Amino acid sequence: MIVALLNQKGGVGKTTLALHLAGAWAREGKRVTLIDADPQGSALDWSEQRAKEGVPRLFGVIGLARDTLHREAPELARDARHVVIDGPPRITGLMRSALLAADLVLIPAQPSPFDGWASGEMLKLIVEALIFRPQLVAPFVLDRCGARTIIARETAELLVDHDPPVLGSTIGQRVGFADAARSGRLVGEIDDDGPAAREIASLTAEIERLMR
Ligand SMILES: Nc1ncnc2c1ncn2[C@@H]1O[C@H](COP(=O)(O)OP(=O)(O)O)[C@@H](O)[C@H]1O
Ligand SMILES: [Mg+2]
Repeated sequence: MIVALLNQKGGVGKTTLALHLAGAWAREGKRVTLIDADPQGSALDWSEQRAKEGVPRLFGVIGLARDTLHREAPELARDARHVVIDGPPRITGLMRSALLAADLVLIPAQPSPFDGWASGEMLKLIVEALIFRPQLVAPFVLDRCGARTIIARETAELLVDHDPPVLGSTIGQRVGFADAARSGRLVGEIDDDGPAAREIASLTAEIERLMR
């Protein structure tokens, strides 16, 4: 399966969720490749930080911030059980290419009532893709749910019929995720039974059910 994390908004959790999904599958013993399609290379930075800290490699990270990504991805997917694409911060040919490559597009969003979770332009791109590939699955995933997570959860429940749909698993705003990013680790490697690790496990399980 090729999963792309796409939202042209910055800071919504694309890189964090890409790393944690790739990590969760790799820790189950599956072969995983992460494509860093962000020219800023934050997933590559994470991988480099991990090496500096002497933490063993879990999955390979390849920098591929090119419009030809969709032509390279199937080849990479042949050698791996899952390919995870960490998307770019702008709607460009690169974003379209990542969208074209994916079986599943996750749209990370911070559940703020004050602004839309994704731009109209981004949603238009998804709607267009669905015309040609009706089997494409493209739900929102709520990350950085704040102290009022209950509200976020209620929002998620209210939004099961939302279009695009919203996954039931939500990810809280937790220091563990920021620590993980800094230290080249995953939340499950810092605290395997902690709430952050449990949220990632439940997200991974929901994705597997969805794509079965
Ligand atoms: N659930 C979370 N809890 C705490 N910090 C988070 C969470 N998700 C992301 N972050 C932090 O927010 C910042 C932006 O997240 P990131 O994954 O880099 O977003 P994007 O790739 O969409 O720009 C990073 O510093 C990251 O560590
Ligand atoms: Mg990023």
